[in-house]
Amino acid sequence: MCGIVGYVGPQDAGARPLDVVLEGLRRLEYRGYDSAGVALVGPGLTEVASAKKAGKLANLVGELEERPLPDASAAIGHTRWATHGGPTDRNAHPHLADDGRLAVIHNGIVENFATLKAELVADGATFLSETDTEVAAQLVARAYRASKDLTAAMVEVSNRLEGTFTLLAVHTDLPDTVVGARHDSPLVVGLGDGENFMGSDVAAFVAYSKEALELGQDQVVTITPTSVDVVGFDGSPAEGKRYTVDWDAAAAEKGGFASFMDKEIHDQPQAVGDTLLGRTDVDGRLMLDDLRIEESVLRSIDKIIVIACGTAAYAGHVAKYAIEHWCRIPVEVELAHEFRYRDPIVTEKTLVVAITQSGETMDTLMAVRHAREQGAKVISIVNTNGSTIPRESDAVLYTHAGPEIAVASTKAFLSQITAAYLLGLYLAQLRGNKFPDEINTLMDELRDMPRKIQTVIERGEYVRATARSMKDASSVLFLGRHVGFPVAMEGALKLKELAYIHAEGFAAGELKHGPIALIDEGQPVFVVVPSPRGRDSLHSKVVSNIQEIRARGARTLVIAEDGDDAVRPYADEIFWVPPVPTLMQPLLATVPLQIFAMALAEAKGLDVDQPRNLAKSVTVE
Ligand code: F6R
Repeated sequence: MCGIVGYVGPQDAGARPLDVVLEGLRRLEYRGYDSAGVALVGPGLTEVASAKKAGKLANLVGELEERPLPDASAAIGHTRWATHGGPTDRNAHPHLADDGRLAVIHNGIVENFATLKAELVADGATFLSETDTEVAAQLVARAYRASKDLTAAMVEVSNRLEGTFTLLAVHTDLPDTVVGARHDSPLVVGLGDGENFMGSDVAAFVAYSKEALELGQDQVVTITPTSVDVVGFDGSPAEGKRYTVDWDAAAAEKGGFASFMDKEIHDQPQAVGDTLLGRTDVDGRLMLDDLRIEESVLRSIDKIIVIACGTAAYAGHVAKYAIEHWCRIPVEVELAHEFRYRDPIVTEKTLVVAITQSGETMDTLMAVRHAREQGAKVISIVNTNGSTIPRESDAVLYTHAGPEIAVASTKAFLSQITAAYLLGLYLAQLRGNKFPDEINTLMDELRDMPRKIQTVIERGEYVRATARSMKDASSVLFLGRHVGFPVAMEGALKLKELAYIHAEGFAAGELKHGPIALIDEGQPVFVVVPSPRGRDSLHSKVVSNIQEIRARGARTLVIAEDGDDAVRPYADEIFWVPPVPTLMQPLLATVPLQIFAMALAEAKGLDVDQPRNLAKSVTVE
C-alpha cells in the first residue's frame, strides 16, 4: 500500500536519479495507483524540484514531459493508495516543507496526526493538503531547522509519530543524501556501486542491484552514494541484514503477455514446482526453510490456527482439510483482523500459521504479534524475502512463486496451498502420523501437479470464450464442497475484484439452507466437482446439487475431472481438469476460475492488473 523509492547516485548523473525513481515507481505501481510524485535535490538546487499528479503513474510521466525537472543527484518517488485525503494532485506525495527545501513521502497512517497538526498550527505552520503525511513533513522540517541533522530529525520525529510509517526525506542542504525511517511498514535498502537505493520492496531497484539490506523494525537509514548508515529510534547504531535477491528484473516484466495477471497464471506450474524444490534433506526427510522452533515443541502442539487475509485465507481454508486429515490436529482458519481484535484462545501449545504473499499485510502482522505475545509459536508461509512477517515469526516456509505484480493473487495462491501442504506433511512426519512411504507418495502427487496445472492452462481458451460470452452478467455464484468450498470462495473473490460484479461462493451443502433462493432463470453458477474416484459420497452429493440448481433454471458451469460422465447431463459448460486426489484438486480447479475472471474483466475493458480501489500490499489496518 503506497510504493516508495529513493535513490542517490553519482553527482554527474544528469537526469538519472529521476529515471531510476520513475523506473522504480513503474515496478511498484501495483502497491497503489491513486497518484504519483517525485522530488529531486541536486548541487545547484536551492528548492526541491518536484512534480505530482493524481491518477496512475502515466499522468505523472505526461506532466514531466510537459514540465521537465532539472538534473539532480538524489531523488525520492511515491505511488499512493489514498488513506487520509482524497486522491487529488494536492494530496499526492511528496509533501514539501521548510520553504520548499525539504520533501517527504510516506507509506502508512499517522494515527496521532490531528494532535500533531494542532500543535504545528499553533506554532504558525500552514498546511496545503488534507494528508497525515504533511504533518510528518512539517515536523521533520522543524526538527531539522533546530539540529541541522536530517538523520537526527528523522529519529526525533519517528519517536513522535503513532501508527505505521515508512518515511523518506530529502533536503536541498544535502544533495547526496536520502534518509528513511520505518515503523511497521516496509523499507528495503538496495546496495550499489557508487549509488544506493531504497524501496518498499526490492522490485524498486532490482533492475540495478540484487544486493539488498533488510532493515529491522524502528530504524532510520541514511544513504549517500558511498555509505549506508542505520540507527535505531533511540539513535544508537544498528545493522541491517544483507541478502541477495533471488530473482531478476525480467521476472517482474510481462514477458509478452497482455497483463501481469495473464503472465502470473502461466507462471503457476513453475511457482508450484519451485515451492517444492529442495524440501528434503539427505535422508529424504522434509525440511522447513528457517526453523527456530524445537521439534519437541512442534510434537506437543494441540491446535493450529491459520491466520491470513483474502486469497491467502482461502489457501488456509484449503490447507485445513489436508492438515487435519494428515496430522489429526484441529485446525482453525481465521481472518487475521478478526483474530487480532477478539480474545482468541491461544496457548503455548498452539501453532499459528500466518500465510501471506507480501509478508507485509498489516492485519496479518498484528495477528502474528498478538499470537506470539500469548505464547504461541508462529510459522509463516511467505513469498517475499526480506519482508517483515518472516522476521517476526519463529519459522518460515518460503513459497518461491517469484514476484507477483498483478493485484489479484494467482500464483501466490497455488504456491501457498503447496507450502501449506508441505507443512502438513512435515508435521505428520514429525509427529509420526504418516509413514515415510505415504509421505513419498503424497510428495510424488504434489511433484506431478505442475504438469497438470500446465494442462489446465492450455485448455484456457474455452474458459476465455465462455467468459467473453458472459460479459453482461450481473451476478455469478460459485459452489463447492470440502476443498471445493474455499476454491468457490476464491473464484468469487477473483470475479468481484477484477470484473466488479456481484459474486459469492457457497458451500454446496448450504444451498438448501438459504442461498438456493437466489437461483433464477439463467443465473450462472460455477460448481467445483470433486473426483468421482473419492472414497465417500462427496462426488454424488455435488452432482445432486447441480441437478437441484439446474431444475430451478441455473446456467451451470461445471469444473470436473476428465471423463466424469455423471456431470455431463446437468452441465451447460464443462471445464475439464486432469484427475487428481480430491485434496490436490484446488491446485487445478482454481485455474479456470482465475482465467474466467480475468477474461470477463478484459471483455468489459477493465484493467486486470490494477483493479479499482485496491492495492497489492495492504500495509495499513
Ligand atoms: C486477492 C488478493 C488479496 C490478498 C490479501 C492478503 O486477489 O490478492 O485478497 O490475498 O490482501 O495479501 P498477502 O498475501 O500479501 O498477505
